[in-house]
Amino acid sequence: MTLPTCKVWTSHLTVVNWRRGQIHISGRAKEPVVTTDPIVLSILSAFSTPKKISDVVQQFPELDQEDFENVVEQLLDIGALLTPATLNGQAPELWWEVHDYWHMLHTATARGGVGRLTNQKSVSAPPAVRPGWENASVIELPRQLAELAPASLDQLLDLRQTVRRYAKRPLALAELSRLLWSGMRNTQSPRENTTLQMEIIRRPYPSGGSTYSLELYIIVPPDGLETVEPGVYHYCPARHLLERLESIEQHVSQIRRNALGAAGVERQDGGQPLIFALTSRVGRVSYKYEGNAHALIAREVGCVYQTLYLLCANMDLAPCALGLSGLGSSELAEIGGFDPHLETVVGYMLVGAKQI
Ligand SMILES: Cc1cc2nc3c(=O)[nH]c(=O)nc-3n(C[C@H](O)[C@H](O)[C@H](O)COP(=O)(O)O)c2cc1C
Repeated sequence: MTLPTCKVWTSHLTVVNWRRGQIHISGRAKEPVVTTDPIVLSILSAFSTPKKISDVVQQFPELDQEDFENVVEQLLDIGALLTPATLNGQAPELWWEVHDYWHMLHTATARGGVGRLTNQKSVSAPPAVRPGWENASVIELPRQLAELAPASLDQLLDLRQTVRRYAKRPLALAELSRLLWSGMRNTQSPRENTTLQMEIIRRPYPSGGSTYSLELYIIVPPDGLETVEPGVYHYCPARHLLERLESIEQHVSQIRRNALGAAGVERQDGGQPLIFALTSRVGRVSYKYEGNAHALIAREVGCVYQTLYLLCANMDLAPCALGLSGLGSSELAEIGGFDPHLETVVGYMLVGAKQI
């Protein structure tokens, strides 16, 4: 390969990590450059702004020119270093941020391992039912669901829509109960999967490997839910009840600001929607699927969104999925007393009584 004479620079998609004592430098190509020599990192970082190779070589007088050029050639080969020619209209550098790019590659091409069971036998999966909070007061949700006018699934799919206008009335406890019973409850007790050595359950929406990692927290505003005090609640899908958490006012205000702001409803005169925050107990999924966990969790959140949207269409409620995810994770974690790296916010949704 003849090295280019034009300016060259490091791609922002280049990733460096250390595995078993070796430095792995990954670019667009499937195989990384693997080395134990840190000077390769120095060369990579010398191109953090566009420079001519002939200028950079002078920064490494201790290196033989041929060795230097070999390193540059390898880095160009894997796309860790770019030239104007490689940055054409189709270049991933134009369209991706580094974390999303690697996430996509990892999940689309199955880079990385799958199956914690095979290599970490001492780790056990988190239980299917999330342990509750000691001394948390609970609100039993009614299980007698009123008859609704029959609607076909096709009709509901046509009716399904995002609604951001709320009636000046709290959501009825029976409405919330139906939504959660039909959409989110555990429909089976945990049972041991002996092959996986983990408990699995069932819910009304699908989940990769029946791992069901999602938990639902509900932020109830003043006059948001009939007969229920404002605050933060966890929905227990095994027992179909709400557990009240010790709220931290400033955190709740921040989550509310973010969530209502994302839907542009912070200054509405109508009623106030409930905020649904979905978390994932990530270990439930990564225990089995390791490097594919995040992709599976995101898909599962999509299943929950559509399930709740269809139920809202059936009940004439106002749902709005939100693109916010990590925002509020640490605040909610502090309220719930959990580690946001192990149980992470992965989706938000607003649900309220619909303005007719
Ligand atoms: C993953 C996802 C993220 C969304 N994020 C937001 C959001 O942050 N704010 C908002 O007002 N609507 C949000 N929505 C709702 C979309 O704007 C809405 O679904 C889209 O405009 C189509 O309208 P429809 O749902 O009424 O068919 C989101 C929907 C999805 C599925």
